[in-house]
Amino acid sequence: MSSLIFRPKHNTLARLTLVVLAAGGGGTVAGLFLWVRTPYARNMQAPIEQPLQFDHRHHTRDEGIDCRYCHNSVEKSAFAGIPPTQLCMNCHSQVWNKSAILDPVRKSFIEDKPMVWNRVYKVPEFVYFNHSIHVNKGVGCVTCHGRVDTMAAVEKVSTLTMSWCLDCHRSPEMNLRPVEEVTNMTWEPQGDPVEVARVLAEKNNVHTRTSCTTCHR
Ligand code: HEC
Ligand code: HEC
Ligand code: HEC
Ligand code: HEC
Ligand code: HEC
Repeated sequence: MSSLIFRPKHNTLARLTLVVLAAGGGGTVAGLFLWVRTPYARNMQAPIEQPLQFDHRHHTRDEGIDCRYCHNSVEKSAFAGIPPTQLCMNCHSQVWNKSAILDPVRKSFIEDKPMVWNRVYKVPEFVYFNHSIHVNKGVGCVTCHGRVDTMAAVEKVSTLTMSWCLDCHRSPEMNLRPVEEVTNMTWEPQGDPVEVARVLAEKNNVHTRTSCTTCHR
């Protein structure tokens, strides 16, 4: 009987609670419970170490370079694309061409070894994701990646859980925009948002997609 009520997990928990209470940190356990529910538990909002700090603010907002200049397969393939060193050198053989900050780029270029950027967004191997279909149906970068144009280092703003995907797949309408606005970080619907969403869903021929084989194939 008792094993039903006091499962080992609960015992550990009770002990932990006592230890923490004894240590005078009543808030710590509560803190732990909160922690597992916060974005931090899913590696969100923690900047990822990179070989060189690449600042999207300076390149997108200040210089006005479109996302697709660097992520140039985002409309055509599953993969958005990460720019090769040569593309950086198109500008940086002239701009900031003496700055030490850009040493890793020049080194990569001279040695002909690609820069190794660490991934911020990643779904598990058993999940199929494809950029092109989203972008071509009018789901904007900002909807899934947030205001990248204001980030000194890319932060993960979406959980990438199954329910995150499904919430949108059940009723995607309100997340649509005209296809030509997909990289616009500040687009807002003009007029009644519900009506705009309905018209876009029809125009972009958007369907709900909830069958398991959509994402697990
Ligand atoms: C279309 C031109 C262009 C391309 C392509 C480009 N940059 Fe830049 N980059 C600039 C300009 C202009 C600045 C100076 C911005 C400033 O001073 O505010 C800059 C600044 C920088 C800086 C200095 C620090 C900062 O953020 O201001 C770094 C580092 C940098 N770029 C890295 C890269 C890397 C890595 C790539 C390739 C993935 C790249 N850039 C591609 C134009 C470009
Ligand atoms: C000048 C080139 C350049 C432009 C323009 C650019 N990016 Fe990037 N982006 C990069 C590089 C280099 C990385 C890899 C380093 C990093 O994660 O910061 C990157 C990384 C990212 C990532 C994280 C990828 C991962 O690891 O999961 C996202 C999301 C992203 N960019 C979105 C955007 C969006 C949205 C725009 C337009 C608003 C944009 N980028 C414009 C060069 C660029
Ligand atoms: C529907 C949500 C969604 C939209 C819209 C979206 N992305 Fe992504 N992005 C993701 C997911 C999920 C991943 C991780 C994919 C993986 O692990 O295969 C990702 C990964 C990336 C990466 C890393 C390289 C890669 O392809 O895995 C870059 C760069 C990126 N996105 C840029 C963009 C840009 C630029 C746009 C807009 C033109 C955009 N994304 C639109 C969800 C989205
Ligand atoms: C903000 C909305 C949104 C989010 C979030 C989102 N999707 Fe989608 N997804 C769409 C829309 C819209 C379509 C196009 C549906 C249609 O009309 O066929 C789509 C289509 C797809 C397709 C292509 C279906 C097919 O049969 O060709 C795949 C695969 C997919 N999504 C996977 C994912 C995965 C995996 C995630 C989470 C990591 C995700 N999506 C998150 C809106 C979203
Ligand atoms: C729109 C995309 C999408 C659809 C549709 C979808 N899944 Fe998933 N599924 C995911 C993603 C993304 C993950 C990874 C979640 C994570 O990393 O936390 C996942 C994870 C899983 C897992 C691993 C355990 C877990 O919860 O992480 C199982 C099992 C699973 N899905 C089964 C299903 C079944 C059964 C269906 C149909 C009823 C389904 N999925 C439909 C996107 C989807």
